Amino acid sequence: MKTDVAIIGSGPSGLFLGHLLRQEGISCTIIERQSAEHVLSRIRAGVLETVTTDLMTQLGLDERMQKESMRHDGLTLSINGEEVVIPVTDITGKHVTVYGQTEITRDLIDAAPERGVEIVWEASDVALHDVDRDNPYVTWTKDGETHRLDTTLIAGCDGFHGPSRKAIPDAEKHSYEMVYPFGWLGIMADVPPCHEEVIYASHDDGFALASMRSPTRTRCYVQVDVDDSVENWSDDRFWEEFKFRIGPHFAKHVTTGPSIEKSIAPLRSFVCESMQHGRLFLAGDSAHIVPPTGAKGLNLAASDITYLSRAMISWFKTGESAELEGYSQKALARIWKSERFSWYLTRLLHRFPQYSGFERRMQDAELRYLVESEAAQKTIAENYVGLPL
Ligand code: APR
Ligand code: PHB
Repeated sequence: MKTDVAIIGSGPSGLFLGHLLRQEGISCTIIERQSAEHVLSRIRAGVLETVTTDLMTQLGLDERMQKESMRHDGLTLSINGEEVVIPVTDITGKHVTVYGQTEITRDLIDAAPERGVEIVWEASDVALHDVDRDNPYVTWTKDGETHRLDTTLIAGCDGFHGPSRKAIPDAEKHSYEMVYPFGWLGIMADVPPCHEEVIYASHDDGFALASMRSPTRTRCYVQVDVDDSVENWSDDRFWEEFKFRIGPHFAKHVTTGPSIEKSIAPLRSFVCESMQHGRLFLAGDSAHIVPPTGAKGLNLAASDITYLSRAMISWFKTGESAELEGYSQKALARIWKSERFSWYLTRLLHRFPQYSGFERRMQDAELRYLVESEAAQKTIAENYVGLPL
């Protein structure tokens, strides 16, 4: 088997790249460890910058998104119950779009067969070979048989735990990491959202977030200890704690209901430099992780893929290698700015067990500054809607 680009991983990064390459007549095969059902059962964030919605439009796959998504022109902070609205559209002229990552993934998977985007599901033992030579190849096992795919380029879109990043020799990469001492307990419930915008709540007892997927589906989170477990959290306990942290003004609009999903996610900041080695190019979570505060994970994957698809297309069409050689440097410039924003919002809004009294006062002072200063609100707004490409 031979293809132009072998793509490892069928998350948003791999799917976007596969569709963009096929649109330009470049052949590709996506090799995914899980089944399509498993990929579509994963629940992730759902606040999209235009960098992400533009990709759906460019692919002509935005029909359902246009119909079912919700436009948000602001975000709300609740600071120990005090409401602060940041009118992001008034400030920046831009908005964000609420449409679940699962729905984006579904739209891209559904359109794959008719667009000639080939996906191999349930491939185990995926391995990358000769990535620093001109003829790399990928092998995997499926139904007891070993398969080999010869290729020209490899895109590592296989998330944080995939094999692609490991295929870059240690001497050629450096990782930067910060692990936070707490996680997010999230639930999904088929009840109307308590507010028309996303609420980020900073409370003495910890962070909480009120979000949504549709006018009838709510997604909410509370900060918990990193070693806590979902078994400790009945739905009733979750709703009580959530209402307490978002404050009485919002709590009175909360409709509670049984959870249809409940899980705890740890929080991490991570960046791997460089994102390329020979014929291998990393994109999305395989190269970097942001804590979910600010919902930048999917949007960063979309900006990586915007840069990478352009560079690959230019290389195949013109033989010019400059854009491909500069991919990592270009992508990292935007990644570090999003890392900074996600880290800043996380530090601002969460309770850190190790913080001294002085550090708590600094958090409070920063929040008061945010309430009173247009300049401070502007920095949040322009990062929230997404920095320019
Ligand atoms: N072989 C093949 N595929 C693999 C392997 C492997 N060994 N390991 C992981 N994968 C697959 C995963 O099953 C997953 O479908 O790679 C895919 C990676 O997808 P994501 O983790 O969604 O990463 P990415 O596409 O970069 O998307 C980034 O989406 O998932 C969110 O939190 C993430 O918001 C971020 C954004
Ligand atoms: C979500 O809807 O899941 C969500 C929204 C905003 C965030 C993080 C997650 O900052």
